[in-house]
Amino acid sequence: HMPESVEIVEVGPRDGLQNEQTCLSPSERAQFIRKLTDTGLTHIEAGSFVNPKRVPQLANSNEVFSQLDKSHTHVVYSALVPNEKGLQAAIESGCKTIAIFTGASETFCKKNINASIKESFDRFTPVITEAKVQNISVRGYLSCIAGCPFEGEVSPHKVIDLTWQLLEAGCYQVSLGDTIGTASPKQIQSILIALTEPIRQGKIAVHFHDTYGQAITNIFAALQLGVQVIDSSVAGLGGCPFAAARLQSLASQNDNQNNVCQNNNSKKSSGQNKVSLSPGNVATEDVLYLLEGLGIHTGVNRDHVIDVGHWVCQKLQRPNQAKSVI
Ligand code: HMG
Ligand code: MG
Repeated sequence: HMPESVEIVEVGPRDGLQNEQTCLSPSERAQFIRKLTDTGLTHIEAGSFVNPKRVPQLANSNEVFSQLDKSHTHVVYSALVPNEKGLQAAIESGCKTIAIFTGASETFCKKNINASIKESFDRFTPVITEAKVQNISVRGYLSCIAGCPFEGEVSPHKVIDLTWQLLEAGCYQVSLGDTIGTASPKQIQSILIALTEPIRQGKIAVHFHDTYGQAITNIFAALQLGVQVIDSSVAGLGGCPFAAARLQSLASQNDNQNNVCQNNNSKKSSGQNKVSLSPGNVATEDVLYLLEGLGIHTGVNRDHVIDVGHWVCQKLQRPNQAKSVI
């Protein structure tokens, strides 16, 4: 049954910004995070310690961390960490929660982190061990839980199995990512029904992208199965560049055939009959609207989140993707 309260994990400053054409400076990113903190959010993903050549938008995340007020002890500021080098940077930045990440599809994993799924576990085993020594909590992400931009549909059995492996490896929570936003509620149910016990313990989060407009419906399906943690991004910013690249190429093939056009981030957009294919995350504003309607408590002020969404869209000079803000 539905939870009484839900924790929102705000991923805008990480997942949101990593796919934007406009790069914000570390000071602007810290300002963004401070504004989000003032809305009542208690977990904000603040950056990532990956190869800056691959994700220049999030370069110098250490400077972002140095500008955050660590006296907000009730607020978790986490960062994405792919390997030991990233962990070292996170430790030096005073980051107390990291997120490791892998995928349920071999091809996506290779494109994203240049490792097979097995290699990704081999890589983060020493990361988790050292994090524990340093008193750092480890969250896990599993991408492509329903569909992969390269391999198509993904088996729920594989997703369930990898989720257990992540929990057994020492993640306090696993966030299940519908990276390309193609999941149906039926797919989500088939995964979550097998994870009832960790869901009850707050160990499963859902991380849905809204590419096909299914994110809110899928969140509703997850809530009905008791999920208590939802990842979302203010103004619906975001997407994984290594999935988006493939989506863009698929859409441009369509474009050649049908005059259908793609991603509104793409400069290649052409033609009159544009269909937007946006790989954005589900918008925090829309998740809050859903939860308010269901009487589920979050402790987050929706009006304040709406203001921050408009502020960041102005900075990024892009439209606000949240639907509940007019
Ligand atoms: P690699 O090429 O296998 O590693 O990359 P490498 O060890 O050969 O290193 C290559 C270069 O990266 C070297 O630099 C390293 O020093 C550097 P060079 O000699 O070329 O100058 N390097 C690093 N620099 C800074 N910090 C580090 C680091 N590690 C290596 N930690 C690696 C492996 C994972 C690092 C690389 O593939 C990478 O950075 N990938 C980017 C992954 C990424 O950020 N993806 C987006 C986030 S995932 C996502 O969005 C999905 C999610 O939202 C959930 C969902 O929606 O499904 C989480
Ligand atoms: Mg994501």
